[in-house]
Amino acid sequence: MRRPVIVALAAGAAAAALLAASGRVTPQLRRPQDLPRTAHAGADGLALTPPMGWYPWNVFGEEPQNEKLIREIVDALVARGLKDAGYAYVGPDEGVCFSRGPDGRLTTNLARYPSGLRGLGDHIHGRGLKYALYTDAGSRTCSGAMPGTKGREFEDMRAFADWRADYVKIDWCNSSGQDIVQTYSLLAKAQRAAGRPVVHSLCSWGDGYPWVWAGAVGHMWRTTSDICAPGRADWDRAIRIAFANDKLADFAGPGRWNDPDMMIVGMPGLTEARNRSLFSLWCMMAAPLMAGNDLRDMSPSTAGILTNLEAIGVDQDPLGVQGRVVWNDGNVSLWAGKPLFDGSLAVLVLYLGKHRADRQISWEELGLAAGDELYVRNIWTGETNGPLAGATTVSVGPDDVAFLRISRTNEFPVPPVLVADTTLVTLRSASAGAERLTGAVTVTNKGTSALPPWRVDPKSLPPWLSVAVSGSGQSQTFVNTASTAGLKKGRYHALVRADNVEPVSGRPMSAFYYDVDLEVVRNVKR
Ligand code: GLA
Repeated sequence: MRRPVIVALAAGAAAAALLAASGRVTPQLRRPQDLPRTAHAGADGLALTPPMGWYPWNVFGEEPQNEKLIREIVDALVARGLKDAGYAYVGPDEGVCFSRGPDGRLTTNLARYPSGLRGLGDHIHGRGLKYALYTDAGSRTCSGAMPGTKGREFEDMRAFADWRADYVKIDWCNSSGQDIVQTYSLLAKAQRAAGRPVVHSLCSWGDGYPWVWAGAVGHMWRTTSDICAPGRADWDRAIRIAFANDKLADFAGPGRWNDPDMMIVGMPGLTEARNRSLFSLWCMMAAPLMAGNDLRDMSPSTAGILTNLEAIGVDQDPLGVQGRVVWNDGNVSLWAGKPLFDGSLAVLVLYLGKHRADRQISWEELGLAAGDELYVRNIWTGETNGPLAGATTVSVGPDDVAFLRISRTNEFPVPPVLVADTTLVTLRSASAGAERLTGAVTVTNKGTSALPPWRVDPKSLPPWLSVAVSGSGQSQTFVNTASTAGLKKGRYHALVRADNVEPVSGRPMSAFYYDVDLEVVRNVKR
C-alpha cells in the first residue's frame, strides 16, 4: 500500500501525551482563518450517533464495483435484516464511478452505472436508505482512476449534491503540498454552498491529526491506515487499529467520530468469535458501523452479529461517549468508561489468550462503589444476572469477548434505532387545474424508548409543500401534501428536515432528511 501502517499509534500517543500534560486538548496545527466556528454537525444535525451503513472497499476493492453489485447489496442489506437494524448509508467507494468531462464537470461512468449516479441514488433512497459516495481531496483518487477534487471543490460538491449524496467519503491520496486543514475546510464550505447537508467522512488515515480539528469541518475521520487490503481480512491489524483508536477517545462525541475504518466482520477467514469481538470493539468505541463484507453471501452467524440491537444500542447511544481501555495485561483488556443514556454502563472484556479463562471484574475498577448491588446483562448471551455485589465473573474463550451492560435496575432499554420505508417521495401532476397530491414517509423506531412527534423544520418546506406528522412513539408517518395551484410547468424539489429528541436522555437525535420531487407537466392556474 501507499501509506504507512497504523499512523495513529504515533499520533495517538502524541495526542494522549498532550491530554495528560494539560488535561485539555490544545490544537497543534495552525488553524486557517476560515475554519468554521461551530462544529459542522451543529447546524446540520447529522451523525449525532455514529453513521451506520455498508461500503464495498474492504471485500471487493475497486474492480467488481458497479451498479449491479450495489443494487444486489442493497437488496441483501434489506433482506438480511441490516436495514431494520439501522444500517442506512450505502453506495460505491472508489471504482471508476465518474470522470471529468471537457467542460470540467463530473459525469457518471454510464458503462458501470447505467442509471447514472443520480439514478442509483434515487434507487437507494426509494428503498429507505441513504446514499454514500467517494472522492479524494487531491488531484486523483488513490487508484488514480478518478479525478480528485483539488481546485474543483465547489463544482464537485455541487455534483455530489445533484446526485443526492447524503454521505461523502473524501480520501487524501495525491495531495502532496496541500494543507490538510485548509483543504478539508474548503471542502466543507463547498458542501454547505451546494446546499445539501452531507455526512463528511474524512479519510486521511490519521495524517494531520484530524481528531484535533476535523470536528469543525466533518463528522468522522479515519484514525489509521486501511484495516485490510481488499479481500484479505487481517485480524491482527484490526486489533492493532482498535488499540490505536482507543487513544483518541477524548476527541469523539455526537457529530464527531473517530473512524477506525470500515468493518471486516464477516469477511472470509474470520471465526465467529473474532467477528463478535471486532463488532463489540467497534460498538464500544462508538465507531461508525460501516459493514464491509459481502452481504449477498453472509452466514447466519455474521448476520446475527451485525444486527444485534443490544450491541448496536451501545454504539448508537445518544451520549456518544467512546469507551476506552481501563487496563490491558497483554492477553486480557478491560474496556469501560462508556456511560449509556439510561444510566447503565457498557463494559467489554477482550481476551486474546489461547485457552478459555475466567476473569473477575470488580465494581471498583469500573469506577463504581464496591457495595453497589448491580444487574449484569450479557449482550451476546442475552442473560441477566443480579443483583450482584462487588464484582462479576466472566468466562471468555480465545479471541472472544464478554460484552456487558451493568445497571442498577433490571431493565436494559435500547435507544432509538430508526428505519425509514422510503426517503424519496415522487409526485407528478399532469392537470392544468390545481391539485393536491400526497405521498408518505414512515419512520419506525426499533429501539425501546418511544419518540415524541417529529418536528418538521419549516425552513425546509417550500411554499408548495406542507407536511403533517401522525402516529405513535414507535412508528410515525410524514404525510407530504403538494399543492400545484399557480405552479409553472417544471420540476420541483424539497429536502425536508425533521428533528426529534431521545426522550430518556433528552438529547437531540440526528436530524432526519428526505427528498420530495414534484413534476408539474403543465402550467397550473391559481
Ligand atoms: C484508501 C482508503 C480506502 C479506500 C481506498 C480506495 O486506501 O483508505 O478506504 O477508499 O483508498 O482506493
